[in-house]
Amino acid sequence: MSKQVALTGATGFIGRNLLTSLVKSRVPTRALTRRQQTGSELSGLVHWINGDLNNHSALNELVEGCASVIHCAGVVRGNSLEDFLEVNLKGTENLLNEICKKAYKPKFLLISSLAARYPDYSWYAQSKSLAETLLLSEKHSGLPRTVYRPTAVYGPGDKEMRPLFSAMRHGFLLAPKVADSRISLLHIDDLVNAVLKWLTAKNTGGIFELDDGTEDGYQWKDIVAIGQDTWNNSIKQVRVPIPLLNTFAHINLLLARIFRYPAMLTPGKINEITHKDWVCDNAPLTTCLGWEPKINLIDAINGASI
Ligand SMILES: NC(=O)c1ccc[n+]([C@@H]2O[C@H](COP(=O)([O-])OP(=O)(O)OC[C@H]3O[C@@H](n4cnc5c(N)ncnc54)[C@H](OP(=O)(O)O)[C@@H]3O)[C@@H](O)[C@H]2O)c1
Repeated sequence: MSKQVALTGATGFIGRNLLTSLVKSRVPTRALTRRQQTGSELSGLVHWINGDLNNHSALNELVEGCASVIHCAGVVRGNSLEDFLEVNLKGTENLLNEICKKAYKPKFLLISSLAARYPDYSWYAQSKSLAETLLLSEKHSGLPRTVYRPTAVYGPGDKEMRPLFSAMRHGFLLAPKVADSRISLLHIDDLVNAVLKWLTAKNTGGIFELDDGTEDGYQWKDIVAIGQDTWNNSIKQVRVPIPLLNTFAHINLLLARIFRYPAMLTPGKINEITHKDWVCDNAPLTTCLGWEPKINLIDAINGASI
């Protein structure tokens, strides 16, 4: 079988960065897309396949002849559990079903999320956890399977963390009022490197958490201090009490349902961002693949790689 890779989510923040690195490493890639691709800078090594995670023939074509499948497509916003299950669980199931029809067994990497640690926290967390369970079930025991659970990922092209950094540059930070909470972060380049390591490794089965290796993670005050030191400005912290955040989240969800936009700030998201300890243990992945994160927040902000 060829060394070809199948990639979903290639048009998103993480997937686009992955695709660029695969092309740089001259790895022939089949990538799923829901939008017309003009392709210029990535042409040649990328074979775009039009379709979504509900399009069975597109998924069948996507995995044809591939040695590895990286499943990165997913939704991070939604207004109901069904919104998340439809893509994160059903989409994963559709992809796995097409792989199972093939005579060969490609290795499979699911880009899950650290949120899957606590499926009860949010619809998103539940959908990611159920996708993991499905992948690791007996039905798919014939596939070499790996799950990555990255924490919050940031870097060029990211839309979710960018507003936070941008607000800090303008002198303020809005954060939940939770005492001593420990946040973890991961730079996109480190996640991409972890995926490239997985691609060339032989035995990698299991669930792996990934963060930037900062011992005990970051407190909000650490993030503020890093911003102040780097940008030489004063950053005012506005700490919002949890009940007020929950009220905003309920109102936002209501508006999202009325005006039909996918909500990011939901009661479930508040459960996630007010959790006290999101620090990861990278040791299992380091032992397995020799991967180590190289970029912490200080490096990233100093190198303007945010
Ligand atoms: N960003 C983070 O901090 C973070 C942290 C942990 C885990 N993750 C996981 O990493 C994955 C990628 O996240 P991201 O930040 O790159 O998100 P993103 O920028 O929103 O990209 C999502 C990707 O999934 C595709 N997609 C969504 N629904 C689809 C469907 N029904 N069929 C086919 N493709 C679909 C999108 O296609 P379009 O471009 O057409 O919309 C896009 O390519 C997700 O599974 C997410 O849960 C992200």
